[in-house]
Amino acid sequence: MTARDDQTPSPIRLADYRPPAWTVARIELEFDLGIDTSEVHSRLHLHRDPAQDAPLRLDGEGLELLAIALDGQPLDASAYRYRENVLEVDGVADGSVLETRVRVRPAANTALEGLYLSGSRERGFLLTQCEAEGFRHITFFPDRPDVLTRYTVTLRAERERFPVLLAGGNPDGAGELPDGRHWARFVDPYPKPCYLFALVAGRLEKLERDYVTADGRRVALVIWAEPDVIECCHYAMDALERAMRWDEQAYGRNFDLDVFHVVATHDFNMGAMENKGLNIFNAKYLLADPDTTTDDEYRAVEAVIGHEYFHNWSGNRVTCRDWFQLSLKEGLTVFREQQFSADMYSPSLKRIDDVALLRRAQFPEDAGPLAHPVRPSQYSEINNFYTATVYEKGSELVRMLAGRLGPEGFRRGMDLYFERNDGRAATLEDFLAALGQANGIDLAPYLAWYGQAGTPRLSGEGHYDAATRTYTLTLRQHTPPTPGQPDKRPLPIPVKLALFDPDGRMLPLHEGATEQVVVLDTQEQSFVFPGIGRAPVPSLLRGFSAPVILDYAYLPAELALLLTHDTDGFNRWEAAQQLAWRAYAELRDGRGHQALAVWGDTLAGLFDQATLDPALLADLLTPLSEVELAERETDVDPARIHALRQTLQRELASRIGAGVLADRYRALTAQASDALDAASQARRRLKRRVLELLVLLDAPAAHAFATAQFERAATMTDRLAGLAVLVRSGAPQAAGALARYRTRHADNALALDKWFAVQAQIPGEPALARVRALEADPKFTLKNPNRVQALLGTWARGNPSGFHRADGEGYRFLAARLAELDALNPQVAARLATAFNGWQRLEPVRREKARAAVAGLAEQSLSRNLAEIVGNMLK
Ligand code: PHE
Ligand code: ZN
Repeated sequence: MTARDDQTPSPIRLADYRPPAWTVARIELEFDLGIDTSEVHSRLHLHRDPAQDAPLRLDGEGLELLAIALDGQPLDASAYRYRENVLEVDGVADGSVLETRVRVRPAANTALEGLYLSGSRERGFLLTQCEAEGFRHITFFPDRPDVLTRYTVTLRAERERFPVLLAGGNPDGAGELPDGRHWARFVDPYPKPCYLFALVAGRLEKLERDYVTADGRRVALVIWAEPDVIECCHYAMDALERAMRWDEQAYGRNFDLDVFHVVATHDFNMGAMENKGLNIFNAKYLLADPDTTTDDEYRAVEAVIGHEYFHNWSGNRVTCRDWFQLSLKEGLTVFREQQFSADMYSPSLKRIDDVALLRRAQFPEDAGPLAHPVRPSQYSEINNFYTATVYEKGSELVRMLAGRLGPEGFRRGMDLYFERNDGRAATLEDFLAALGQANGIDLAPYLAWYGQAGTPRLSGEGHYDAATRTYTLTLRQHTPPTPGQPDKRPLPIPVKLALFDPDGRMLPLHEGATEQVVVLDTQEQSFVFPGIGRAPVPSLLRGFSAPVILDYAYLPAELALLLTHDTDGFNRWEAAQQLAWRAYAELRDGRGHQALAVWGDTLAGLFDQATLDPALLADLLTPLSEVELAERETDVDPARIHALRQTLQRELASRIGAGVLADRYRALTAQASDALDAASQARRRLKRRVLELLVLLDAPAAHAFATAQFERAATMTDRLAGLAVLVRSGAPQAAGALARYRTRHADNALALDKWFAVQAQIPGEPALARVRALEADPKFTLKNPNRVQALLGTWARGNPSGFHRADGEGYRFLAARLAELDALNPQVAARLATAFNGWQRLEPVRREKARAAVAGLAEQSLSRNLAEIVGNMLK
């Protein structure tokens, strides 16, 4: 394996952590901004750790050094060395001031890390992305999160081309310069690590709103976007205000600067970035308007707005000591975001969405060659660790801790965490210590969850003894080995449970409560429940109280009881998932239809229940995804899984009945509105699900419905649902609808992304030909991460039967595109490459073809990012 960068990737280890030998108390940064070249002048006020005597070494990548001076004296070339991305300077003393001037090239920066151009040379704007290690692409600096510095930033540029100049912090003057240039200065009073630095410069419009924090600070909220989309920022502004109020109420956290800027860009590697006082968003998580934004996307905008805002405390005021602690900010902030979304919408639907995501994205990661702990112990490229494990599993760990402490105890612990660590770069130990000490509870056993990869398997067995009227639940845990971790220890697993009597009533447990949490913290343990009159049905792991895989030998009728009667919305859905899995296994193995009948008939029975939330019903009617089914199989054949899942759904549809489905569809259509409230969203969600089921029974009727829905839709949710049903089921009307969509949304990048994505989801072998054809579309480009994700990401990571062709063409095609993409944008290439995850578990024919494609990639000259992923995949 060769890595393209000069350095061979030698891993960075948590065990090697040392505090910085040099810190920077203050930095004065001056930018002379231009599209092709920009110059950066920096003045660092340095401090030496008296306990260490290392020379000053600063990070810097791809910088053209124009001038360097120490304490006002230009430095002789013999006094410094710039090589292998490190600048080493001799003769620096505690209190020294080092000045450098460098040149960087924004327009040539296709990796979108550091200072780069978003959009075209003529109309685009300049912006920065520094997390994790982008600041070293801007200037020389100790680029590590435990160096906290006060920033004064001065921006200078041509006024005509760059009328708006922004940086994080409070404004501190602006004015004119000769030759049509102008300047603006920002001072950030809060010391921050350099990954939170940001600037933006260009022609942007704004929306502005005054906000007064709970502690009485007046804050100007300003959202910036290019002129053609500024009107799509109103929803984000409302969401921002909701998020700010929520954090005041739920956590007592107030905003702390005079101005809070938010900027939208179409060219961004990730979802969004929490830069102090200047959040930058991928446009797809900021822009929203009724004609082009789906309900799911509206909710995602609100969630991401919340997420980035919440980072102001969980991430910025309290930051991470090193990148191994990434989940300290990300897991915690995802958890806070999930709580916020649950409060704004519906707790059980939110929980279902989040667990479905965990199972789709994190469980496969944890079960394959890329498995790593929530706190990894080593990495080669930190950008590869912004993973579902660090984010989603990390959030589950915080949720377990919060559950252990209860709402008041958790709040007490969080208050102490923020108070103790404000202005510091903290560790996960600091987090657990604060939560525990505020409550007099030792949470240290939970630290094991952060260091151990793999999804624990929890098996349960119930035994009812009529003579003693006791129910005994025996729980066992086992975590399979993961790369580098052959032996696993038992973890503390909180299992929230209830017991139902055969009539579907909850039984009183301890002290009359109907719900209880038992903690399994050894390999095996039994829990005894006295005073139980009849053999109960246990509802286990309610609300998904721990991120584990539960095996419990329920009878289908017991699952039907939970599906019908459980008071925990999440566990109702879980019972449906379990039943669907049993039904699937029966179909696959050709052994009867017992679970299938129970599943189908129970759902058919619930179908007309007036009190059932239509959104929950839609989720109950959705069997586990093809990705989840593949997780449970060996010798995976994605084509067969797709076919079986279709059969499963057809069986469900026929038990409900075409007539009933069509009637429900018509009724939901008659109630259609363009409103965004939860009830309207729920009806649209169910309408789509009903249509997806109907098309399996009566394609002509469903195609007619879908076409009419597509043509007349008042919302993007309905329009896209109609289109997706036509395209995925190969309707004769699909081509015409696609053409009309394309014309209607030709100038809207986010709407066009959905046009690419919907076609990338065509099932089976035809998908690849469609992807190839769409690549030739003039609107396709490998340079835009959203477009790459819409077409190649949707196909390779979200369409298993389309990607995993038996002839291996899909693998060869993806490998070729990865090599091309890697030369432009290593981060995006590395993420797309995770589509190969799980190749070892494919059936032999596909397995060999996938292996050959990955191995072929490994022989090429790759970025450190892609080399690490590909290398791990082959280990
Ligand atoms: N810190 C960002 C978030 O989750 C994600 C991000 C990481 C963005 C790296 C850009 C680069 O909120
Ligand atoms: Zn985050």
